[in-house]
Amino acid sequence: MTTQLSITTPDDWHLHLRDGNALNTTVPFSAKQFQRAIVMPNLAQAITNTDRALAYRQRILDAAPEGNSFQPLMVLYLTDDTSVVDIKQASESKHIVAAKLYPAGATTNSSNGVTNITRLAPIFNAMQTDGILLLVHAEVVDSNVDIFDREQVFIDKHLCAIRRDFPQLRIVLEHATTQQGIQFVEESNNTAATLTPQHLLFNRNDLLVSGIRPHNYCLPVLKRETHRQALVKAATSGSPKFFLGTDSAPHATQAKETNCGCAGCFTAHAAIELYTEVFEKEDALDKLEGFCSFYGADFYGLPRNKSTITLIKKQWSAPEHYSFGEQTLTPFRQETPLSWKLQT
Ligand code: DOR
Ligand code: ZN
Repeated sequence: MTTQLSITTPDDWHLHLRDGNALNTTVPFSAKQFQRAIVMPNLAQAITNTDRALAYRQRILDAAPEGNSFQPLMVLYLTDDTSVVDIKQASESKHIVAAKLYPAGATTNSSNGVTNITRLAPIFNAMQTDGILLLVHAEVVDSNVDIFDREQVFIDKHLCAIRRDFPQLRIVLEHATTQQGIQFVEESNNTAATLTPQHLLFNRNDLLVSGIRPHNYCLPVLKRETHRQALVKAATSGSPKFFLGTDSAPHATQAKETNCGCAGCFTAHAAIELYTEVFEKEDALDKLEGFCSFYGADFYGLPRNKSTITLIKKQWSAPEHYSFGEQTLTPFRQETPLSWKLQT
């Protein structure tokens, strides 16, 4: 039995850090285990241009622990008003590597997202030319489409066309949750997907059986077990098209345990440990390093990290809450002890 494991320091290719005082909680959690992170731009005031991205980057760096070399990689938030000049400017900064497509209304702070994807053609063209990756929240928002089908419908209705029309554009299907998402990525060139701990560990029963569990509610919503199995198979397959992206998305405990709770699981307190559990269960610990530390960097065209982290097989439990400014933050899957611990 493996009881200690060293891997190249991983990166998180999909992370929500929020802003202001929240950064003092969120940044240290990610910085203790990840070298780099793709920082999502869906702040209350969205990161829609280079100036905002660079100012936000500095606020994140200011919240990193002394002596830590955590590197935030910034992302532009696409809107109906994004211009080719916005893309050009972003591509001239080495700190901005991607742009995120949120269909308007799909998730947290997405009201300024895109309402008409076909009108973004000149933007996708500029991104393709300038080497800016397209990160996609792949869910339609039509009220007549069942919430469990929204990813598949988005792929059929929009993603296939973008893939066909911009063949050199690198696309990441963020937080893939379905068998159809996995298949689309496998069959498409220049296309990859991030996979979250919650979608690898849980299915929709974990959200809805024996009581509703607000801390397991995220978007895209957890799917049925057959989909979870397809994600686990992809993650542990050794395919470089699938890599780590936590989608750790902190919301205060009160904002989740309420009448209309926010979507998002906070996993950054133990992200690498949660992924390690998934790979151990599949007897695929030999595939963990590629998924966590190599394939994302390769797809983004960035160097692999040089340092390492060590994980020890050891049971521990996360606290019921972490403090989060004046409020608290409930960690994902708090009720079950973790079986690996990052050595610090
Ligand atoms: O569950 C989610 N939370 N999904 C998203 O797409 C956004 C995120 C957030 O920002 O809270
Ligand atoms: Zn996200």
